[in-house]
Amino acid sequence: MPDPNWQPRIVAFFCNWCTYTAADLAGVSRLKYAPNVRVIRLMCSGRVDPQFILDALARGADGVLIGGCHIGDCHYVEGNLKTLRRFQMLKRLLHDLGIEDQRVRLEWISASEGERVKMVINEMVEQVRTLGPLNLPKRFADWDREMTSLEESIREKEREEAEVVHA
Ligand code: FES
Repeated sequence: MPDPNWQPRIVAFFCNWCTYTAADLAGVSRLKYAPNVRVIRLMCSGRVDPQFILDALARGADGVLIGGCHIGDCHYVEGNLKTLRRFQMLKRLLHDLGIEDQRVRLEWISASEGERVKMVINEMVEQVRTLGPLNLPKRFADWDREMTSLEESIREKEREEAEVVHA
């Protein structure tokens, strides 16, 4: 039975120079965005190691949002291009693990786009709310059970084949 009080938990990695400043601007401008996001400030979106995203999900986040400077505006020249490449690869992996696409999002949001940061956060929170809790630890346990049963069925097949050979 779903918990009616459940709230999505989103971890956001924001670049210091653009999206973090945009989130700050949204706050100063009293633009309200959902309180479900915990923002982690990094100097560049290129600092977001895919492992950070996997760790956040494994530790209970229901979604991860990454915000960086627009392409061509990265203060470290091509940090955001590296992020884009890593992000696309990670999305494929997450997709194969059965983790819905909407749980991990990459957005280019400049320092002046306070309204946009608000819109992206609110939209993502609602999308993740619709998906429900990610509950990755439970999924890990389910995958373990699946693998154990697969292993047992392979062993059983090998035993049967060995009996046929020795008969
Ligand atoms: S400095 Fe903002 S994405 Fe690189």
